[in-house]
Amino acid sequence: MGSPARRRWPIILASAFLAVSLISPPASAQTNCSDHTFSGGRVYAACSALGELGASVHWTHHAANGTADVAFRVPGGTAGWAAWAINPSAVGMLGANTVFAYHEPATGSVRVLTAVVGSYAPVLADGNLTFAVHGRGAEYIDGVYDVHATVSLPGNSTRQNIVWQVGTSAADGLPENHQAFGDNIMSSRSWDFSSSDAAVADVPAPRESVYSTLLRPKNIHGVLNAVSWGVLLPLGVILARYMRVFPSLDPAWFYLHVACQCSGYVIGVAGWVVGLTLGSKAKGALRYPGHRNIGTALFVLSTLQASALLIRPKKTVKVRFYWNLYHWSVGYTVVVMGVFNVFNGIGILQPDPKYKHAYIGVVLVLAVVAFVLEVVTLTVRFKKSRR
Ligand SMILES: *[C@@H]1O[C@H](CO)[C@@H](O)[C@H](O)[C@H]1NC(C)=O
Ligand SMILES: *[C@@H]1O[C@H](CO)[C@@H](O)[C@H](O)[C@H]1NC(C)=O
Ligand SMILES: *[C@@H]1O[C@H](CO)[C@@H](O)[C@H](O)[C@H]1NC(C)=O
Ligand SMILES: *[C@@H]1O[C@H](CO)[C@@H](O)[C@H](O)[C@H]1NC(C)=O
Repeated sequence: MGSPARRRWPIILASAFLAVSLISPPASAQTNCSDHTFSGGRVYAACSALGELGASVHWTHHAANGTADVAFRVPGGTAGWAAWAINPSAVGMLGANTVFAYHEPATGSVRVLTAVVGSYAPVLADGNLTFAVHGRGAEYIDGVYDVHATVSLPGNSTRQNIVWQVGTSAADGLPENHQAFGDNIMSSRSWDFSSSDAAVADVPAPRESVYSTLLRPKNIHGVLNAVSWGVLLPLGVILARYMRVFPSLDPAWFYLHVACQCSGYVIGVAGWVVGLTLGSKAKGALRYPGHRNIGTALFVLSTLQASALLIRPKKTVKVRFYWNLYHWSVGYTVVVMGVFNVFNGIGILQPDPKYKHAYIGVVLVLAVVAFVLEVVTLTVRFKKSRR
């Protein structure tokens, strides 16, 4: 029973997670925001470099009519977008009245659109904000987006929640995803536009917490499915395949295998259901049909697998051989498709690279352990056959 392989598992997994999570993101270079000359002769009374995403905010407040000229400069790629927002109702993304700049794929020109972000998977269309926009525009020079607008500050209040962001675009060029970790969730402030002193304008205020970000449905979906399809099910297969070789580990391997696969199945189905709600929130549009279909196939196959356990023939019966063939082929298919779909999902969700690296680390550890155990069990079988 005291297999060293069993005791090593939690330690290997924990150290893989730890090693990767210690890699910190690179610091972004700061430049003097007041050195910048804007196109079209625009001049702003004040500016401030923002700590996150290498962005800077430039503004002029007109007290007489309650408007502000605002420009954000945010570095980003041509295949992506940059945006800033005033959120009159909350801190963070939901309810953000946003000015987006993005590259139109057909012409390569930079376009600007305004939209209120109403969900975590918004389908964006150019529209009115909850406050008046008197003028807007966007430029892209030397890898930096310049997104500007003149707005009536909501409630004629000079203090506003501001948010800024960069991300990647959908196939049609419209703004789509952004990373859900690191700088990308810290990029919001409470700002006082009446001040022309940047240090005074940046009013300390609560930001959206890391925990509330983790509790967003798409992150819950990602974590549940990475743990279930991506780790527990492959781990359960490895346990069954290699522990069985050692007679002293019988029937311990069986209970460990069933425990891994059952918990993986329950967590995986929960994650799948959360994933389905993500797809339907985007106004009925199936935005990632491939990812979704593989997820559904995984649910069907693993449900079959769980039900097959109930009709498992006795070891002594001849049909048990065919049941085993069936059980193994469905099992390996689920593992390969599951790991594939986790990587596919990481590509869609675009979390901080350290989460992707952590998952690659776990898969590599599992693969190396499986390889070593494969060699060990082959040796054991070989020695047995010689005796
Ligand atoms: C930025 O440049 C302005 C003038 O161009 C100068 O007055 C100011 O001290 C500079 N600030 C920093 C932090 O270098
Ligand atoms: C607001 O006032 C400023 C000057 O104080 C003026 O330049 C601007 O055109 C005004 N905007 C609107 C929308 O009236
Ligand atoms: C906004 O408030 C200022 C005083 O703070 C006032 O002078 C101005 O008329 C107000 N503008 C609007 C559009 O309500
Ligand atoms: C946007 O606002 C303008 C002026 O207030 C109005 O004429 C227009 O219909 C609005 N557009 C939409 C899509 O609501």
